[in-house]
Amino acid sequence: MKIRSVFFINVLSISFSLSCFAQHTSFKQDKNLLQTISSNFKNTATQYQFLMNNLPPDKFPKTYQLNINTLETSKSGWWCSGFYPGTLLLLYQQTKDKLLLNEANRMLDLLQKEQYNKNTHDLGFMMYCSFGNAEKTEPKPAYKQVLINSAKSLSTRFNPKVGCIKSWDSKPTDFLVIIDNMMNLELLFWATKATGDSSFYKIAVTHANTTMKNHFRPDCSSYHVINYNPETGTVQQKKTAQGYADESAWARGQAWGLYGFTVMYRETKDKKYLDQATRIASFILQNPNLPKDKVPYWDFNAPNIPDALRDASAGAIIASALLELGKYEPDPLAANYFKSAETILQTLSNSTYLAKPGTNGGFILEHSVGNFPAKSEVNVPLTYADYYFLEAMMRYQNLNKNK
Ligand code: GLY
Repeated sequence: MKIRSVFFINVLSISFSLSCFAQHTSFKQDKNLLQTISSNFKNTATQYQFLMNNLPPDKFPKTYQLNINTLETSKSGWWCSGFYPGTLLLLYQQTKDKLLLNEANRMLDLLQKEQYNKNTHDLGFMMYCSFGNAEKTEPKPAYKQVLINSAKSLSTRFNPKVGCIKSWDSKPTDFLVIIDNMMNLELLFWATKATGDSSFYKIAVTHANTTMKNHFRPDCSSYHVINYNPETGTVQQKKTAQGYADESAWARGQAWGLYGFTVMYRETKDKKYLDQATRIASFILQNPNLPKDKVPYWDFNAPNIPDALRDASAGAIIASALLELGKYEPDPLAANYFKSAETILQTLSNSTYLAKPGTNGGFILEHSVGNFPAKSEVNVPLTYADYYFLEAMMRYQNLNKNK
């Protein structure tokens, strides 16, 4: 336990955080959108009760196939298992409806065994979006312990020679790291604050630095997958798995990078991460292939734009990230981020994306793309689209608080 260095980190964070909010005028929220958001929360609570009623007792929702009217589910080991309980907890914070809390708690019981899962890098998604929100909603020593154990399990995948947490297991000469992995670092920052052990913090910072060095192109778009030599740490391949091409910009990957480097700045107050997040935001927002309504195509370089499918999940993640990033930047950047997030929320709240109550298998949003090249989860609802949409709406509501 390295209490001294953690104390130092904390003092640094506190003193930086006093000055980290950039100076800009309060953002004028759109009254109509605020009303829409209130009504979205009410509808969502109804939708999730519908979803809850169709869910087999030992399963987690994954997606819904409209053509065969089937709810697809998973076991707790699927990377998305934390989003359903996480969404229920966010909704509970809004509605105080105990039914939602009870269902969340039921799912946490099913999920908790994953705290010992060392075969996935997705523990941040799985455990922090669920138990992290539970700990924020109703702090309990048991939740804290699950999160600490999860952070320990995730840390076992760190290779100091590479300077990264391994994403996907593969052959022994491969060490695959995907941009999505930036999203798992928030759990490690939480663990250092909770335990005083700075090793989690150091792993997160090292992973982010290595990612910054190798995952990004000069225009600040990112590759999806980097394959490192596990012995030497050299880069062996830069490629895609879920994007259109190795050299394309897969939309959700850009969204994960934007969100991940925004969290890096929040947790470290190191300006290089703020600059990185800002450059990623520029790539996204100034991209000629970003539609006016700002919900991206599933890949910024999809061959059939403007007829390519949109990815609502990428839109929701980008909106949520921009609403945080705007707090750290001065105007006019901040105003642009808030306005862009507002446009995304307005788009996702229209009838193209927002499901009517009682439809869409109980999910909130339609039209996300999971894995286009694998023809899996294409143009469907997804748990993480719903989760980040709710998070973004809550961030929008609270935009002028904490100033
Ligand atoms: N982390 C997997 C995905 O974004 O599809």
